[in-house]
Amino acid sequence: MAKKDKVRFGIIGSAGLIGNYHADILSKGEGPYELSALCDIDEQRVRNQANKFGVPWTTKVEELVSRDDVDAVIVATAHPLHPEGVIAAVEAGKDVLTEKPLASTPADARKMVKAINRKRRIGGIHYQNRAQPAVIKAKEMIDSGQLGKILCIRATGSFYKSDYYYSLGGWRGTWKNEGGGLLINQAPHQLDLVCYFAGGFHPAELVGRWTNLYHQSSQTDDFASAVGVFPNGVEFVIQMSVATHGDRARIEIFGTSGVITLLDQGATFARYVRFEKDVIDFAHTYGGPDPWAGPEVKEMPIPELPKGDPSLIHKRFAEAVLTRDKSKLLVSAADGLWSMEMICGIYLSGYLGKKVKLPVSAAKYDKMLADLIEHARPVQREVRKPEEGMIAR
Ligand SMILES: NC(=O)c1ccc[n+]([C@@H]2O[C@H](COP(=O)([O-])OP(=O)(O)OC[C@H]3O[C@@H](n4cnc5c(N)ncnc54)[C@H](O)[C@@H]3O)[C@@H](O)[C@H]2O)c1
Repeated sequence: MAKKDKVRFGIIGSAGLIGNYHADILSKGEGPYELSALCDIDEQRVRNQANKFGVPWTTKVEELVSRDDVDAVIVATAHPLHPEGVIAAVEAGKDVLTEKPLASTPADARKMVKAINRKRRIGGIHYQNRAQPAVIKAKEMIDSGQLGKILCIRATGSFYKSDYYYSLGGWRGTWKNEGGGLLINQAPHQLDLVCYFAGGFHPAELVGRWTNLYHQSSQTDDFASAVGVFPNGVEFVIQMSVATHGDRARIEIFGTSGVITLLDQGATFARYVRFEKDVIDFAHTYGGPDPWAGPEVKEMPIPELPKGDPSLIHKRFAEAVLTRDKSKLLVSAADGLWSMEMICGIYLSGYLGKKVKLPVSAAKYDKMLADLIEHARPVQREVRKPEEGMIAR
């Protein structure tokens, strides 16, 4: 059981890039939590890491999840391994915070959320960009009606990656061990924000296209685009890439009364404009004489924002665990299904060459993935380990 005021965390995949990040945050103890134990199959790394943090370690998931001094587990392995870690944790009666994306297939993602609910555990997902003050502010502005009715969300992002990146760990950019590439690894933060701003669901339908422009070090997508619509009628356009370079990940939220632009995956509130009249009212009431007229666009001051807190996801997760109140979570594991469906919908649509309705058919998805694995081209790269102790950013 949790000590009254602190959640004791164990981490699975602790010695990896993001595992190190979680260990670092938890060891600072700036919230109602502490780092209790580490688990990684890389024995040398986890031993060194445990020495650094002064906590016990294991190479076995079952050992970590059955420890009495672990209340909650962070799952920081590669995404196809998230279900194994999450299900082992909840079966052992632990609460669980998983890395993004939830999993590598819709069937696995749905199974994880069901297992968390069945065992009545607290389940969160580490979409830390939701903790950005600009994201919180933009969502407040949308919900309070300051943008009018939301018509469309446009999101882009270049998350350039070298062959060296793909060499790390051996699982990246492979259909079998990652279940995809750009869409499933680099795009999810932006896609999660698009779903969040649209209203908190996955799209109803979409048309997607993905390709590999030049990464011989990856079997999977390095460039992808999609258009579609959410169940409430909000349209979206996305274009993501690890091949192009030189822009700042952008989200534009177009309402009938104004537009918000966020850059850097929600880290920067870049622009807010208001229209002197709602665009729909204007369209129906303007009587001429200018055929090109539209409501005047007024540049508004950028809202003043507090400093961001990189441990907000951990703090809110720990509060939810301590109070057994899921509503305290900043991002629930179930929220992770929105972007998961979107990612998988784009893969399936691009593969089939036609529009797909969401949620995607798990059977069709599994068939597609089996085919992509079977026909995957060999990757031209070495397998390397990241520098020991390196932290994801
Ligand atoms: N939220 C973010 O911004 C963010 C950033 C980076 C990575 N991630 C996510 O985190 C996950 C891991 O990515 P990474 O870049 O840290 O990968 P990584 O390869 O650096 O780390 C994975 C770690 O898991 C360990 N591992 C593998 N199988 C294991 C098992 N059965 N039991 C215990 N440990 C095991 C590996 O030895 C490795 O140390 C991915 O799902 C990725 O999408 C999220």
